[in-house]
Amino acid sequence: MTTDGGRGADSPASADRPLRIAMLGCGVVGSEVVRLLGIHTDELAARVGTPLEIAGIAVRDPGRVRGAAVDRELLTTDADALIARNDVDIVIEVVGGIEPARTWLLSALRSGKSVVSANKALLATHGSTLHDAAAAAGVDLYYEAAVAGAIPLLRPLRESLAGDRIRRVLGIVNGTTNYILTRMDETGASFAEALAEAGELGYAEADPSADIDGFDAAAKAAIIAQLAFHTPVTIDDVYREGIGAVTAADIASARELGCTIKALVIAERAGDRPGISLRVHPAMIPRSHPLAGVREAFNAVFVEAEAAGQLMFYGRGAGGAPTASAVLGDVVAVARNRVAGRQGPGESAYAALPILPMGPTVTSYHLQLDVTDKAGVLAAVAGAFARHDVSIRSVRQDGRGDDASLVLVTHPAADAALSATVEDLRVLDGVRAVSGVVRVEGVES
Ligand code: NDP
Ligand code: HSE
Repeated sequence: MTTDGGRGADSPASADRPLRIAMLGCGVVGSEVVRLLGIHTDELAARVGTPLEIAGIAVRDPGRVRGAAVDRELLTTDADALIARNDVDIVIEVVGGIEPARTWLLSALRSGKSVVSANKALLATHGSTLHDAAAAAGVDLYYEAAVAGAIPLLRPLRESLAGDRIRRVLGIVNGTTNYILTRMDETGASFAEALAEAGELGYAEADPSADIDGFDAAAKAAIIAQLAFHTPVTIDDVYREGIGAVTAADIASARELGCTIKALVIAERAGDRPGISLRVHPAMIPRSHPLAGVREAFNAVFVEAEAAGQLMFYGRGAGGAPTASAVLGDVVAVARNRVAGRQGPGESAYAALPILPMGPTVTSYHLQLDVTDKAGVLAAVAGAFARHDVSIRSVRQDGRGDDASLVLVTHPAADAALSATVEDLRVLDGVRAVSGVVRVEGVES
């Protein structure tokens, strides 16, 4: 019998009844969640006001070797039956991917269970549907672990900064690509060498394309922007470029300019009209910028709010234990809400700001041109910039004769104008090749 307005378990949570958890997935993150739940049983019970118990763990292959903390008796391949159990209050999803996770979570929410998920791909694609289901059932849907692993970022955006107006979020939210770019910068490794190292250390997955091509960061950007700007955002709204085209020469050129290259997410309000710009791409930033010191697989996110000013969040963005910490923080939050018979703060999408296309978005570029070293070439190059109303911030010539190259950095201009300038330069007499086209961020204009 359900006595709590359809909230899943047979009786409302209270100090004399444990809260029961259905775990979906028990891999890198899930096995750490189980281990930490076991180690901190008493403390977590004291914080929640009632014990937390694992009712069952759904996996694909129950025969697989898992950590000693995982009770094999709890394993099942029937996730649907586990979710449907009347004695389950909370569902933790650490499976990943869209299906069957989407169907499972909708079923959990609709049957009154609170949900904690680490699944950025799902939240960035079907977030609205899941939030609607949670709101309709009066239960919680929390997902702190989905963005930047252990770093508390989503709750500060949703709760601590709820009284402020966020202008911009700028950050490094993918550990794999940050590791690769760090190694390229610090050791002169090629992209392929650094990727192989990341694979050996377990950062990059067998198929690293979600990281390398920017899908992972774009999903995180969508989740961040939704919370920061109270606007519905999906991964499809995010302009995305991966790091696969970044070369050792680009890194060396950045170094000569006192910069380094980082894979950034940038979510910001447009300067002069309602709307937000959302993008994920490699960018040169000055070595003096705080994000330049974020090395290897660490993540960091800068938030600029009107009243709070600049805030920086830094820490481990991936890995079993760090991610499990964020999952368990959410579990305690939703468990407390269930004990208190309330629902925690959910999403708000009242602002519904338009998502701006990349064309009018204002950025700066770094370019390297292989040129013929003769009179008039520099003037022709400058003319191409002038035609598209792009102002040049700095220009430097290296080499002489057939070996000459120009390194240019622009002032901020519309991205479409910069792209058009690059297209003109590619066919300009005296310009043999255009390379090193990398956006520049964090430089005073
Ligand atoms: P893993 O691949 O290590 O684990 C996935 C788990 O899900 C496994 O236990 C697997 O079962 C189970 N599973 C997969 N498909 C099914 C299915 N159809 N039915 C039942 N069980 C299934 O993933 P991670 O732990 O690394 O990641 C989990 C989630 O956490 C993802 O959403 C990921 O994006 C997110 N995340 C991960 C981080 C990390 O550092 N790893 C960091 C931040 C977020 P079996 O064990 O039998 O194969
Ligand atoms: N693949 C992700 C990364 C894991 O490298 O950051 C954390 O989401």
